[in-house]
Amino acid sequence: MNASEGAPHPLSAACYADQARQLRVPIIENERIARNTFRVRFECPELAAAILPGQFLMIRLADCNDPLLARPFALYDTVLDATNSPSGVDVVYLEVGKMTHKLSEYQAGEILDVWGPLGNGFSPQPVEHLILVAGGIGQTPFLALAREFLGGRQYGNPARRVTPARKVTLCYGVRSAEFLAGVEEFRACGVNLQIASDDGSVGHHGFVTEVLEQVLADSPGTDRRIACCGPEKMMEAVAHIVQRSALPCEVSLETPMACGIGICFSCVVKVLQPDGQWDYKRTCVEGPVFDATKIVW
Ligand SMILES: Cc1cc2nc3c(=O)[nH]c(=O)nc-3n(C[C@H](O)[C@H](O)[C@H](O)COP(=O)(O)OP(=O)(O)OC[C@H]3O[C@@H](n4cnc5c(N)ncnc54)[C@H](O)[C@@H]3O)c2cc1C
Ligand code: FES
Repeated sequence: MNASEGAPHPLSAACYADQARQLRVPIIENERIARNTFRVRFECPELAAAILPGQFLMIRLADCNDPLLARPFALYDTVLDATNSPSGVDVVYLEVGKMTHKLSEYQAGEILDVWGPLGNGFSPQPVEHLILVAGGIGQTPFLALAREFLGGRQYGNPARRVTPARKVTLCYGVRSAEFLAGVEEFRACGVNLQIASDDGSVGHHGFVTEVLEQVLADSPGTDRRIACCGPEKMMEAVAHIVQRSALPCEVSLETPMACGIGICFSCVVKVLQPDGQWDYKRTCVEGPVFDATKIVW
């Protein structure tokens, strides 16, 4: 498009699809890291160099028509080679249905179709204390974000510079201890981890929102921002807490998706507009990260 044509219409393919790449990639490893939870690592230097924390990929089992459609997965982290160049991508997934069950049986050397980077990603704005709130498998978009805000790694091409935060806290709620996935990696990059479990087998016995309220009470007056991902009810509860505290909060939605590139409208959510009315927005191209106060829960 040349400049005289002006900005493309938001429904135009030029707005979204051109930035993504579709690739056939070999699996490097696919290992179980917690109950029903796996980390798959695949080689894809082009994607690894470009993707930002909070963006996602569509993954399809290559040469497999069941399921026919790809599934969306967040960037867990990029993998660096011996020269510190991004060479691969890690995705952490919970086995819930057909695709994730089949994927859990894939071995190194098998092939995936992936396309991305997709979606908007989290805000890079500086903040003193970044507070991450995750429920279930909702911790997956946060490792890269935490690393970036703790100065451990840069993402994007050209690599974006983020002013390091003084502190990054992850409030992480799970059903029970056996579902905890990736805690060593979060701790190793310097994250302050606060865990809650439904059955009391690890951390605080109760809701992760109770842990969040404690973290907020312990750090009054500091410059804080919240990023949240998990079951919808949990995100809604977090949105109400931050609204009371008037803190900025981004939520990463896990709306089921068919295409991932803005075409099918299977992923729409109700989002408040400046005039106070709501409109449908596509989670895949206008999200998955939204201002929590703008979602009609
Ligand atoms: C932007 C984005 C990022 C995501 N990142 C991750 C990630 O990093 N790790 C991860 O494990 N999952 C992630 N998900 C969810 C993941 O896409 C689904 O779990 C996956 O599509 C399930 O595929 P399946 O074929 O195994 O299950 P299916 O057979 O398609 O579904 C099995 C069951 O799960 C339900 N289900 C499927 N998807 C969802 C959903 N999104 N929310 C609630 N219920 C659902 C179905 O209704 C069905 O009952 C993400 C989703 C989005 C939109
Ligand atoms: S998944 Fe098709 S428009 Fe979003």
